[in-house]
Amino acid sequence: MSSLCISMVPIRLQFALIVLLFLSSETTRPCLAVTSNQELLKGFSAVPLSSVTSFQPILSDQSGNFSLGFLRLNRNQLALAVLHVASSEPLWLANPTHLASWSQSTRLFFNGSLIISDPETDFLWSTATNGDRVVLLNTSNLQVQKKGESSSVIWQSFDFPTNTVVQDQNFTALVSSNGLYSLRMGNDFMGLYAKHGGGSDELYWKHTALEAKAEIVEGNGPIYARISPDGYLGMYQTGTKPVDVQKFNNFQRPHPLFLMVRIEPDGNLKGYCWDGSTWLLNYQGIDDTCELPNPCGPYGLCTPGRSGCSCLDNRTSYSARGCMKEGYGDLCGEGMAEDKYWVMRRTGVEPAHKELTRQERASSVEECEGMCEKDCRCWGALYYNATGYCYVVEHPIQTMVGTGLESKVGYFKVRKGAGDRRRRVGLSVGIVGGVVAMMGVIGAASYTMRRRRRRRRGVEEEDRVISGPYKNLASASFRSIEMSSSH
Ligand SMILES: *[C@@H]1O[C@H](CO)[C@@H](O)[C@H](O)[C@H]1NC(C)=O
Ligand SMILES: *[C@@H]1O[C@H](CO)[C@@H](O)[C@H](O)[C@H]1NC(C)=O
Ligand SMILES: *[C@@H]1O[C@H](CO)[C@@H](O)[C@H](O)[C@H]1NC(C)=O
Ligand SMILES: *[C@@H]1O[C@H](CO)[C@@H](O)[C@H](O)[C@H]1NC(C)=O
Ligand SMILES: *[C@@H]1O[C@H](CO)[C@@H](O)[C@H](O)[C@H]1NC(C)=O
Ligand SMILES: *[C@@H]1O[C@H](CO)[C@@H](O)[C@H](O)[C@H]1NC(C)=O
Repeated sequence: MSSLCISMVPIRLQFALIVLLFLSSETTRPCLAVTSNQELLKGFSAVPLSSVTSFQPILSDQSGNFSLGFLRLNRNQLALAVLHVASSEPLWLANPTHLASWSQSTRLFFNGSLIISDPETDFLWSTATNGDRVVLLNTSNLQVQKKGESSSVIWQSFDFPTNTVVQDQNFTALVSSNGLYSLRMGNDFMGLYAKHGGGSDELYWKHTALEAKAEIVEGNGPIYARISPDGYLGMYQTGTKPVDVQKFNNFQRPHPLFLMVRIEPDGNLKGYCWDGSTWLLNYQGIDDTCELPNPCGPYGLCTPGRSGCSCLDNRTSYSARGCMKEGYGDLCGEGMAEDKYWVMRRTGVEPAHKELTRQERASSVEECEGMCEKDCRCWGALYYNATGYCYVVEHPIQTMVGTGLESKVGYFKVRKGAGDRRRRVGLSVGIVGGVVAMMGVIGAASYTMRRRRRRRRGVEEEDRVISGPYKNLASASFRSIEMSSSH
């Protein structure tokens, strides 16, 4: 076993490894897991090797398409990950919110539970099972199985998706790798939600089930979603017929193609298919950058058609650092309103997802603003005199959308002391850093993007093919990552 392991390592390293093996006190299982196994049995153990710079494979599936191993992030952090080998794209992380350290004190072992532990940092992740073996299926599903007449599955990674799901994986929730955005199922819809410091999450995208092939029956349990290899994202309740179908660009195209859907760090939901050499973008929930939850950061202004971002406060010019620090919580509690916030107005703006924003009727802009002024949970109000709608924003102000119409008036509260251009402090800087590393180093695969503009905007349909590194494509999302990364 140990010679097999070592044979995978360049010859000049072998001597060092052999010395290491002799020095190691834990010689029960000397394999340092530089090679991939087909299954892990009780007693298996592996430690990260200091010579590995990106990924150390531990277990692979039969096709060799997928691999479980140690993924090195932020130079010296470690995630246990299932990777798509050909693209190095991580499909699943065991410990996305708390990374272990890439050090000799971190150990992966299987004793019935698959466990990563690092006593030096008190890190522990476990499947909490009592199984007999760990296998990686050719679907990328990692399973802990119990041996028996028919081997039974007692734990599987498919039940704990992180930001990505693959075809045939049932799911009800996903969280973006920076922790800011999530996908969840409602009674009859799937929605994307943004997390704000304090208060409830904001629904910024909603896809309601069409119920064309099957109806949702109240009391028949919750709905869930699954990607069909036929090229669509389906929602299901019971039975095999979907209650909703969102078709991908390659719907019913010849196969085999491998499909995945991911909630991206910019809050978009994107589908990709592996064509044998590259991931092609074939679905996205949100087509227009300006309709993403926060493409220009807090108090930013995104103007469709025109490239890029500006600031709601016209005295501030937009920079990569954003416009203003995000507000947090609400403006309730003791004290005078004037001490808590100041008011900024801007014409020609509207909320990005106004159909999901609370709407009130108002006969004048004064009445609309008055509603917000009186309500300490309100952060902003946008009035459109042509319709008499007053949109009430009940979470800290994010990016607004610029419209040409000067008659649309926005009123925004800015928490005092927040006028400085400090960047937003991410919800968890550690994770965010990990994302940047992951997307920058591993996600450097190039995607082809076929983008279809929405008719709703009155723009003729337009097919564009853009090739290039992923981060160029998603420059807006990169802005938002950078803004939420460490200060
Ligand atoms: C496996 O190891 C963990 C951590 O050391 C321990 O808590 C657990 O009881 C062990 N499980 C079995 C079945 O030995
Ligand atoms: C995956 O494995 C199953 C059986 O375990 C087999 O039927 C199927 O053809 C395999 N798929 C691929 C893509 O290797
Ligand atoms: C997904 O759900 C369907 C229907 O409940 C089930 O038949 C199928 O086995 C599930 N797939 C996985 C991978 O668990
Ligand atoms: C899996 O491997 C086969 C054979 O090498 C290849 O044709 C196929 O594209 C691979 N699938 C994925 C998802 O990488
Ligand atoms: C900035 O906005 C204020 C309030 O809407 C307006 O009075 C002022 O003219 C604007 N300044 C510039 C330079 O556009
Ligand atoms: C809305 O406001 C604009 C500019 O203030 C004004 O020109 C227009 O007549 C108003 N429209 C209505 C329906 O009141």
